[in-house]
Amino acid sequence: MKKIFYEIPEGFKIGASSSAWQSEGWKGKKENQVSWADAFYKSAPSKWYEGYGPTIATDFYSRYKEDIKLMNSLNLQSYRTSIDWSRFIEDYDNVIVSEDALNYYNDMINELIANNVQPIICLEHWELPDYLIQKYGGWGSRKVVDLYLRYAEKAFQAFSDRVKIWFTFNEPGVVPNLGIAEAIWYPHKVNFKESVQWNYHKVLATALTVKLFKEKGYNKDGGKIGIIQNVAQVYPRSNSEEDIKAAHMAELFADKTYLDPCIKGEFPSLLFETLEKHNCLPNYTDEDLEIIRNNTVDILGVNFYGPNRAKAKATKWNDENPFNPSYYFDSWSMPGATMNHSRGWEIYAKAFYDIAINIKNNYRNIEWMIMENGMGVHDEYKHKDLKGQIQDDYRIDYISDHLRWLFKAIKDENANCTAYHMWNFTDNVSPMNAFRNRYGFVEIDLSNNRSRRVKKSGEWIKKVIDRGGFEYKSFEDELK
Ligand code: BG6
Repeated sequence: MKKIFYEIPEGFKIGASSSAWQSEGWKGKKENQVSWADAFYKSAPSKWYEGYGPTIATDFYSRYKEDIKLMNSLNLQSYRTSIDWSRFIEDYDNVIVSEDALNYYNDMINELIANNVQPIICLEHWELPDYLIQKYGGWGSRKVVDLYLRYAEKAFQAFSDRVKIWFTFNEPGVVPNLGIAEAIWYPHKVNFKESVQWNYHKVLATALTVKLFKEKGYNKDGGKIGIIQNVAQVYPRSNSEEDIKAAHMAELFADKTYLDPCIKGEFPSLLFETLEKHNCLPNYTDEDLEIIRNNTVDILGVNFYGPNRAKAKATKWNDENPFNPSYYFDSWSMPGATMNHSRGWEIYAKAFYDIAINIKNNYRNIEWMIMENGMGVHDEYKHKDLKGQIQDDYRIDYISDHLRWLFKAIKDENANCTAYHMWNFTDNVSPMNAFRNRYGFVEIDLSNNRSRRVKKSGEWIKKVIDRGGFEYKSFEDELK
C-alpha cells in the first residue's frame, strides 16, 4: 500500500477536548452544587456502567497540573473544557460566584497557558444546575435564559483576558432530545413540545450571549464566540425522492434547528411550519427573532463521531404515539459499513469532507473547528503490550483517516477549519457508559488510583505535531 505524507495546513492546531463534569469530580463542590449530569447520576447510579460516574470522574480537579504537563509533553496546542456552571456559581438565583471555583478555574487556565496549551472554554456541557430544573423547569423557562446570561457575564469578566475562544453550549440538543422528549436521560420526560422550548431557549441564549460578548467588548484582542453542534451529517439510503426527503427531515430536526438560527440568524421556515402542524411551536416573540437575526456566532464547533443514515418510513406513524421527529424518517444502517462495535457507531471519515462542503455552501464558510472526534473502545486494556502500554493502532488509523479528509477539504475546497480536537485527552466518564468505552490519548487506570499512562496514539500525536504531519495511505491507492 502506498503511503504519503499529509502535511498539517499552516496555522492549523491540534488539541484535545473534555468537559468539566466528565473530568473534574465533585471535590470542592458544596452539597447544593448539583449539575444536570450529577443529578442524572444520582437518580440511578446503578444504571451507570460498573457504578462509575461524575463523583470522582478522572479527578482532574485535583490532578490538573499533572494532566496539563502531560498535554504539554504531547505537544498539544489547545484544550477545550467547560466551566461547570453548578460549581462556578454558588447562589443560582442571585448569580454569586464561588470563590473556590473562581480560584480553581483561574489556576487551571493559567496552568494551560504556562504550558503552551490554549484554553478554549464552553459555558455549558450539560452542567445546568439541577436547582434551576427543579425550581423553574430548566431550559423550558425564560428565567433560566436570563440567569445563564448573568452567569456567562461573570465567566467573561473572570477569564476573557486569557480565554479567547468561547462556546455557549456543547451539543445543545442532546439533553432536550434524550431527556425531555425521549425519557432516556434525566429528567426522563416524554414531551417533544417541551424539548422544542428547551432548544429554542438555548438558541436565544446563544444570541443574547453573543450580543453581550460584543457589546461589552469581550471580543477585543481577538475574542470569538460560537456554539458546538454534534453535526449529524445525514445520508439518504438511496437517491429516491422519498429517501432524500427523509434525510432532509432528519437533518432539519438534528442540525438545522441550531445551525440555521445561530449562523444564518433564522430558523428554517419548514421547521416552524412542521412544528406548527404538530402543535409543537415554542413560545417566542418577534423581538427574540430579531435578536437571533442580529447576533450570529463567530465560530462553529463541530463534534463528529460517525454519520447518520436515513430512509423513508417503512410503516405509517401511529398517531397514538407522542409526536417525535422520527414521524418523518427511519434510521438506516448501511450494510457493509465500517463500525466501531464498542459504541455501535459507523466510522466514515469522508464525512469530514462533506461537512466542510456543507459549511462552505450553506453556512457562509464560517470559521469552524473540530471540537470532538474519536473512538471509544471497550476493554481497551486487552490491547496492552508486554510493557503495559495500550497499542491503539485503530485510534491512530481513525484519526489519520479523518484528518486527511479534513486537510483535503482545506486544500481543495478552501474549507475554513482551523483546528482538530480529539475526544478526549484522557479516558473519561460518559453518560451511563461511564468508563466503559475508553477515548483518551492517555489511559486512566481505575485499578491503580487512576494513574495516567500515555497510549501509543499519544506518542503518535506528539510526533505528528512535531513533524508537521503524518504518513497514511494515499487516496489514489483507494480508488484503484
Ligand atoms: C459527545 C459529548 O456526544 O460525545 C461527550 O459531547 C461524550 O460528552 C462524547 O462523552 C462521546 O459519547 P459517549 O457517550 O461514548 O461518551
